[in-house]
Amino acid sequence: MKFFVDTADVDEIREINETGLLDGVTTNPSLILKSGRDITEVTREICGIVDGPVSAEVTATDFDGMMREAKVLAKIADNICIKLPPTMDGLKACKKLTGDGHKTNVTLCFSANQALLAAKAGATYISPFIGRIDDIGIEGMELIEEIRIIYDNYDFQTEILAASIRTVNHVKEAAMIGADVATVPPATLKALVKHPLTDKGLDAFLADWAKTGQKIG
Ligand code: G3P
Repeated sequence: MKFFVDTADVDEIREINETGLLDGVTTNPSLILKSGRDITEVTREICGIVDGPVSAEVTATDFDGMMREAKVLAKIADNICIKLPPTMDGLKACKKLTGDGHKTNVTLCFSANQALLAAKAGATYISPFIGRIDDIGIEGMELIEEIRIIYDNYDFQTEILAASIRTVNHVKEAAMIGADVATVPPATLKALVKHPLTDKGLDAFLADWAKTGQKIG
């Protein structure tokens, strides 16, 4: 499973990237707002930090506007992935951009049929929003299961990018179902490593080690 970090905070991205565990970054207009920075400037900086794909979202809602914005975003760096909504115009733009050799990410996916259409449009990634489905009282993870079945039925190459991840359990469940990627907020990504028994065991080992009076090397 690949890990993307879901943020436009360059300090967080740099810190997580240094672990060698980061495969890419996703941003969206809300995350750009949160960063307080200019989209072109912050996206360029992010693209310089990570080698993997960096999703940047168009904000136009018509095909021509999306194509115009996509071309501007694509010029920022070679690792830009264009994020588009699953509307008719968005899917048309996705098909065209994919054909032109760009990576694409169809975002705001809330149904298996949207995911089916995104795959037919050649999307590199489909982003089902797990947490937001949970928010309305429906089991978000079931959407990942449905998309996995459909994509495997037809051998679609579009990667399932589990998004709107809010908890460490979301990450585990998405991995068990076979999502190709999870895009995770920095705090949740860091929380994946945590286990109280690891902390307790480490404390005990260090205490015993100190009693040996030895040093390694
Ligand atoms: O990747 C999509 C993500 O940013 C949405 O997350 O928590 O705003 O639903 P959230």
